[in-house]
This record gives sequence, C-alpha cells and structure tokens, in this order.
Amino acid sequence: MSGEGRTVLPLTISGIRRETADAVTVVFHDPGGRVGGSAGRYVIVRVVIDGEEHRRVFSLSSTPELGQAPSITVKRLPGGRVSTHFVEQAGAGDSIGVEPPEGAFEVGIDPTNRRTYFAFAAGSGIVPVMSILRGVLALEPRSAVRLAYGNRRPEDVIFAAELEELQAAHPDRLAVAHVMSGQGNRIDRRFVDRFLATHPPAAADVWYLLCGPPGMNRVVEARLRTLGVMDDRLLVERYVPPGREEAPVPYDGALLRMEGHGSSSRVAAGEVLLDALDRMAAPVFYACRSGVCGTCRARLGSGRVDPGVPFALTEEEQDSGMILTCVARPLSAEVVLRPPD
Ligand SMILES: Cc1cc2nc3c(=O)[nH]c(=O)nc-3n(C[C@H](O)[C@H](O)[C@H](O)COP(=O)(O)OP(=O)(O)OC[C@H]3O[C@@H](n4cnc5c(N)ncnc54)[C@H](O)[C@@H]3O)c2cc1C
Ligand code: FES
Repeated sequence: MSGEGRTVLPLTISGIRRETADAVTVVFHDPGGRVGGSAGRYVIVRVVIDGEEHRRVFSLSSTPELGQAPSITVKRLPGGRVSTHFVEQAGAGDSIGVEPPEGAFEVGIDPTNRRTYFAFAAGSGIVPVMSILRGVLALEPRSAVRLAYGNRRPEDVIFAAELEELQAAHPDRLAVAHVMSGQGNRIDRRFVDRFLATHPPAAADVWYLLCGPPGMNRVVEARLRTLGVMDDRLLVERYVPPGREEAPVPYDGALLRMEGHGSSSRVAAGEVLLDALDRMAAPVFYACRSGVCGTCRARLGSGRVDPGVPFALTEEEQDSGMILTCVARPLSAEVVLRPPD
C-alpha cells in the first residue's frame, strides 16, 4: 500500500541551513524547476530513515515565483521521527522524494495587486507566510504586509535575519511585531484588536493569513470572523488538527476488514485505521498521513468510527460515509470498509 499513481520527484538535498537550534531549511537540487508550484503551498516529502519510508507534509519555505530552489523549513517536534531526522541527521546529497506542491494557502501573487496582508503566525507556522511575504514584497510593489509572529523566546524566531533585512528594505510596506510568550505576551483576541488598530490597512483589498498552533488559529480565526472577514480573504493553514476535548475514546483492538479483500487486522491502541490496512496490504493508498491530501479515503461499510479531522473531505463526502483512514479510529468492535468507488 502506498501513494502509487502520484507523481514523486526524486530529488537530492543541495544544502541545509540552520535557522535556530530547533529548525533547519532543507534546500533541494532541482535544476529543471520540476517542483514548481506557488508561494504558500505544501509538498509531501518521502524520506527513508533506517530503511523505512516516512511521508510528511511541509510547506514550501521558498518562493517559486522568484525562481528560488525549492526548500522546506522544518522545526523539530520533541520525539518526532521525521522532523528530528531533518534537524539532526539529514545532509547534502541525501535522496528525498518530493511530490508537486498542493494546497489552498496561496494568494495569487501578481504585480497588479494592491493589497494589505495581515499575517498571524507562530513557530514553524511562519514558513508558508514567509514564502508568500517574500514574494509579495518583491513582486507586488503596491501591496503591504503586517506580520505578527509568535514564539516563546527571541532565539526561537525562524528567518529572524531575513525578516530584519526585508523590514530595512521595505520600511513602508512591511511591519513586523514579534510576540514572545516567554515574556507573557500572546497572539490572542485582544492582541488581534490592538494589532489591527495600530496597523491600519494601506490598501482597501485586505487579506488575512493565519498559521499557528490549533489554539491560536481558533482564537484568531474566530475574532477575524466576528470582525466580518469573509472566507475568500482568510487563509488558514493547519499543521495539526485542533484538539477535540469531546473526542470519543477509540475501541482498542477492533477488527478491521475491507470488502473484497481477504484478510483482516486488529487496530491496536493508538493506531488509526490506515495502520491496520497497511498490515493487511489492503488496496488503500496514502501520501500525507495528516488528513490533508485525501489519498487514503475509504467508505464506511459497517461499524462506527471517529472520523478525526478529515481536512480533505467536503461535508457532503463526510455525510455520504467517506472517511480518511489516516485520521479515523474505530469506535466499535468490528469495522468494515469499502473502496471509495
Ligand atoms: C499542511 C501542513 C504543512 C506543514 N508544514 C510544516 C512546516 O513547514 N514545517 C514544519 O516543521 N512542520 C510542518 N508540518 C508538520 C509536519 O508535517 C509534521 O507533522 C511534523 O514535522 C512532525 O513530524 P514528525 O515525524 O517529526 O513527528 P511524528 O513522529 O509524526 O509525531 C510524533 C507525535 O507528535 C504528534 N504531532 C505531529 N505533528 C505535530 C505538530 N506539528 N505539533 C504537535 N504535535 C504533533 C503526533 O500526533 C505524534 O503523536 C506541516 C503539516 C501540515 C499538515
Ligand atoms: S494520506 Fe493524506 S489524507 Fe490520508
């Protein structure tokens, strides 16, 4: 089982740049510009660690519109398999599979745009924002950016030097407010109100970009919506599903079957359905394992599941019984799935 049928570009790492003690930028050698894409989109990378292939989603930190070599910027998650590998072990010359960029976190950079972009980012959430911000400042001479960037401490700020240089180069078009939670400051409802009041838009077409941890995304998105921001001007990128306080307790050891497939497997504690399908070698493909690409879809035949947070499914698809097996967990003793049609 895998993401067969998807395009995977076999690239090598051309260099690794350290951004902070916990974050690195990984630049890919892509002389023909095959990765392409646009600022703010993400790529699914496939990396082999100790003989085992892992797939993860990373936003592009490069700006394709500026012809930059594709790069991702990875922040180490304590205990995280792939992020730790990139931050501690990966090096120039390593082979990495990279899928073409996807996603909806993009603004359509265009020299004729005359916009104000308000961006709220925290930690590695700066990555897609930086990709866009850099392109806007270089290619949209009449647009301005107001960035609020949250971190715990000054030494955690990713792209600190580049942000300073951009501010010096575009003092009228880029404003940056660093918000340090270690000093008791947070990007919360009150901050949003203050930030918007003290940084009035320079152009009437106002866009809002948001990428931070679930709690921050929730608070900022709710405040912006209350203030009347419409869907087509609000882009939110989510790295982790929002925590669900009411999430039901999964059924440990549920028996999983796939219609038309001979074998079955138990879904162990802590596993998602995809883990058990993998053991059964069932015909379900996957790519991101994060609920964002939609590759691992299946239909619920019988039994009950907690669907998790299936970003890639529409409400209609969810209502029709479609699930994403990489984020779904069993709630009944037996679950039967059907291929997605
Ligand atoms: C659209 C999108 C874009 C992303 N872009 C970036 C990026 O630009 N830079 C970047 O560093 N990361 C990014 N991520 C997160 C990235 O895909 C991985 O989830 C992250 O690097 C952790 O992978 P890992 O293998 O190190 O951890 P794993 O070994 O997979 O996870 C270890 C544990 O941590 C939990 N976990 C996984 N991810 C997170 C998280 N982000 N925060 C808290 N807990 C988590 C898991 O549920 C698991 O229990 C992005 C994710 C998405 C969905
Ligand atoms: S593998 Fe991407 S949504 Fe499940």
